[in-house]
Order: sequence, then structure tokens, then C-alpha cells
Amino acid sequence: MSSTLITGIGELVTCDGSGEDRLGIRPDAAVVAEDDRIVWIGRAAEAPAADRRVDLDGRALIPGFVDSHSHLVFDGDRAAEFAARMTGAAYDGGGIATSMTATRAASDGRLRELLGRRVTEMRAQGTTTVEIKSGYGLSVADEARALRIASEFTSETTFLGAHVVPPEWRHDRAGYLDLVTGEMLVSAGPHARWIDVFCEPASPYAFTGDEARRVLLAGREAGLELRVHGNQLGHGPGVQLAVELGAASVDHCTYLTDDDVDALAGARDSTVATLLPGVEFSTRSPYPDGRRLIDAGVRIALASDCNPGTCYSSSIPFMLALAVREMGLTPAEALYAATAGAARSLRRTDIGRIELGTRADLAVLDAPSYLHLCYRPGVPIARTLELPG
Ligand code: NIG
Ligand code: FE
Repeated sequence: MSSTLITGIGELVTCDGSGEDRLGIRPDAAVVAEDDRIVWIGRAAEAPAADRRVDLDGRALIPGFVDSHSHLVFDGDRAAEFAARMTGAAYDGGGIATSMTATRAASDGRLRELLGRRVTEMRAQGTTTVEIKSGYGLSVADEARALRIASEFTSETTFLGAHVVPPEWRHDRAGYLDLVTGEMLVSAGPHARWIDVFCEPASPYAFTGDEARRVLLAGREAGLELRVHGNQLGHGPGVQLAVELGAASVDHCTYLTDDDVDALAGARDSTVATLLPGVEFSTRSPYPDGRRLIDAGVRIALASDCNPGTCYSSSIPFMLALAVREMGLTPAEALYAATAGAARSLRRTDIGRIELGTRADLAVLDAPSYLHLCYRPGVPIARTLELPG
């Protein structure tokens, strides 16, 4: 056992749900971590002795960001697709096949190295937990391989064989669904905690409500927990399906009817709405109405969706700034959504907040207050606090 006392904290933001802003900000606080757990929080003047001390010299301390939605296992470059969108081209999911071709061609070693670099990039910006989806293999061997490699970096792995119907199956959608819910699930499932599906009737490549239901039920039967990509490109059945099946999260939620919002509000103890404003930024699309969701009582999370197509940014502070500027959230709501809210979307109580017994997954800001995360957009003030020992 090895303990660290953290002092000199300018502002301790616990995200423990207390206070009007739910951020549980503690003045004059110190924190003690023992190995990977928080074991003491209190006034600095009353801090116990520890094996070593880290002094933050007035910097703010927050829970490490929980990035609950990413697609980091890929090779290939789609910068030209981004440039085309900036001059008016629409996003329809068709580019996923480009990443699929490059990913299938990459060696295990190369995929591992690319993924490792992306996870390191996230940690350097304050992210301490990342969910990683497959979805650029889209064959039995390539989906299992992506998840096997992803599970070397996180326990939050998600099987997304139902990302799109790959080109070689376009003449036989039903055959591809048989594969995803059969042989592919059998080989990929053991490497995954979650199953996800891109439910989007507005895309010719993605899946209808009935197809998505079949995928999710097969995943549940195989012991996986449910997440859904829904209502990204247009109105559709994704949100209602996620709520009906008790999925932990439905992600994107850009196009919502009043009934969708009511369903999410009614399901607030089971299904989180995860907002991914980097996608709207990088696809030049209208942003989801985060304010409407919060005012209706919906629980929300914020994540990056870092992927080669719709948002190649791993920066949670950038997502916070967008959420505040473009989706009507307060800086406090945005930070809570990217920590405690995102942890809830992963059904985790040991991360996303600084409380006795939670993991010592911490981020430090080169600033006196969390407000600087949005007040200084584009400036890399957040980093993971690596505890010695
Ligand atoms: O979350 N919507 C589907 N999947 C990803 C994009 C994948 C891609 O275009 O490569 C998303 O936006
Ligand atoms: Fe996604």
C-alpha cells in the first residue's frame, strides 16, 4: 500500500451531486489516495500523514473525464471527407467503408500502436476512462480482433458489428444480420462488455428499428449490455427502442420529438442520453438541444465520439466548450455530464466523481477553477494527474 496526500488544491470539484450545481465544490480541501482509491477528503489543515505529498500550487482538481463513446480502433485517413463537408457535402455514414478497408489491411501490431497513441492522447488531456467500440472490421475475424486489442486498453469495450452493412453484404442485408447476431457475436462477444447498433433509417448503410432490435436482443442473450446510436441524422426509432429495452445509453439524440424527450425523461433511472457535439461540429450539422433535455429532467452524458469520420477529436474540454456555447448547458452542467453523467451511462459508480472509495482517477487544471475549461477553449489546461508510486 502506498498513499499520496494532494494539497495546494485551488478548487476541489468532486462532482458528487451536492450543491445547487451538483459539482460538490469543497473549499480548502485536501485529498488522500491509497493505491488507486480515494481514502480521505477533508480540510487541508486536518489532513493525515501520507507516504508522499503532491502540491498543486492553486490548480483545480476534478474527476478524470469519462469518455463514454469512442471508435478508436481504425487505420486510414478521412481528412478529405471532412474537407468536403466543410464546403457542403452531407454525412451519410458511407465513409465508414473507407475506414473498414484500411483497418482490415492493418496488422495487429499497427492497430495496437495506433490505438495506444490515441489513448495516450486522451490521457494527456484529462481522460481517465474510455469506452472503445469496434465497427471498422465488419467481418467475423476483424471484429473479434478489434475488440481483443481494445480490451488491452479498457474494460469498457463495445461490439459494433452492426455499424453499417459492409459493401460485400449490401446485396443481402438479412444475411449480414444473421452473421452479426450469429457467428460474429460468438467470436467478438467474449471480448466485449457492451453491444451497440447504428439505428438510423435516414442512412442507407445503417439499420432500421426492427433490425436494431434484433441485434440488441441477440447481444443481450449473449450476456452483453446495451447501448444505441440513435437519432443522429434524422428522426427515427433509436431513442424509443433504447428506452424500451433498457439500454444504458442512447447516443447522439440530435433529432428528437416531444415523445422521445418524454420517453427519456421517464427512463432517467435507466437510460442516459449521450450528447456528442464534436460530431455536429465536424459534420456541420445542427446541434442537439441539450437545454431542452436537461429542463425535461433527462439525464445526459457528454463524450467525444472520437472516430475518423464524424469527429476526429479526443478533447473533452473542446466538447465542454461546444456544449456550453452551442447546446445551452452551463459550464457546471457540461462538466458534470462528462464525468458523473458519463459514468452513469457506463453504469459505473467508481469513476466520474471524487468520493471515499472511488478510483483515484483525477485530472488537474492549469487554472484556478473548472470554469476555465470553457472560458479558455482550445488551450490545453487539463491533464491526468499521475500519482507517484
Ligand atoms: O458515431 N454514427 C455512426 N458512427 C460514428 C461515425 C463513424 C464514421 O463515420 O466513421 C458516429 O458518428
Ligand atoms: Fe459513434
